[in-house]
Amino acid sequence: MDINSIKQEAKKEIDQVKRLKELEQIFRKYLGKKGEVSLVLHSLKDLPEKERKEKGLMANKIKKELNELITKKKNEILLTDNKSDNQEWIDVTAPGILPPQGYAHPISLIQQQIEESFQSMGFSVIDGPEVETEYYNFDALNIPKNHPARDQWDTFWLKNLDLLLRTHTSPMQARYMEKNNPPLRIIVPGRCFRHEATDASHDVQFYQVEGLMIGKNVSMANFKGVIKAFLKDIFGPKLKMRLRPGYFPFTEPSFEIDIMVRQAHHKKLGQWLEIMGAGMVHPNVLKSVGYLPGEWQGFAFGVGIDRLAMLKYEIDDIRLLYSGDMRFSKQF
Ligand code: DAH
Repeated sequence: MDINSIKQEAKKEIDQVKRLKELEQIFRKYLGKKGEVSLVLHSLKDLPEKERKEKGLMANKIKKELNELITKKKNEILLTDNKSDNQEWIDVTAPGILPPQGYAHPISLIQQQIEESFQSMGFSVIDGPEVETEYYNFDALNIPKNHPARDQWDTFWLKNLDLLLRTHTSPMQARYMEKNNPPLRIIVPGRCFRHEATDASHDVQFYQVEGLMIGKNVSMANFKGVIKAFLKDIFGPKLKMRLRPGYFPFTEPSFEIDIMVRQAHHKKLGQWLEIMGAGMVHPNVLKSVGYLPGEWQGFAFGVGIDRLAMLKYEIDDIRLLYSGDMRFSKQF
């Protein structure tokens, strides 16, 4: 084909093209190694000198012209449409983008330490449902309907159902004992919910770890030993704790456990902070799961995980734990 017709044809094609991929094909068709313009240039060598010179000049001029047209078109396409299939022209030398990295949440961090500590003392880690029945959350724990102690747990009820969001992890005591024979040692970490006003130390959701140890002779002395070992694992050997009498329907006697605040920046530095309820499992609870109270006994406790995390990591507002803010969680 004569070089001028090649040029006309190429121009027409370049003019109509919409995608980089097709433009690339056009480039190859005309200017590639075996492209039409290149072939013309190649064939010149057989021509007589005068003609060769003339045609050579002409062909080179057209080559340059087409090259410019293609570059211009490429920039045009990139400017007007840089989506999808035009992204294929990738600059492989460009530096990569680091994928964003996640961080373990302080609740997860401390939960892991709690689990390790109890596992080293022979406790198994058990999971339980966040949506509970009224029976397990209350009745099985010696808190029947109209029992005044129910007010202690402001409850989210589910509409039209006999279901609620568990107000504590204690329901797993009854669920587990119903299905397993004593002796046993378990902890149950998990999320709980209370229908309460929020402030720096209360949120509608929080985490607890339930603990339960049942055997023939499990006593308060065992409880103190286990809890002291656990708290020292978390807070170090200098930890100071104390037991105060308390009241829970599912334990008798019942206690509250405080620890001395040593974190320099804590506003309660040097004061006692309540972190846990506990006691000897009430005979009515043992009966409700079919254990013989004269034969089996043991202790139970419920620790506030948020409290432990806040103390250990010096966090002064519980709501930060549920903010979902990476700037917060990347600090721990
Ligand atoms: N479930 C109680 C609460 O959320 C805490 C608690 C107290 C758990 C005494 C226990 C216990 O297992 O024995 O307030």
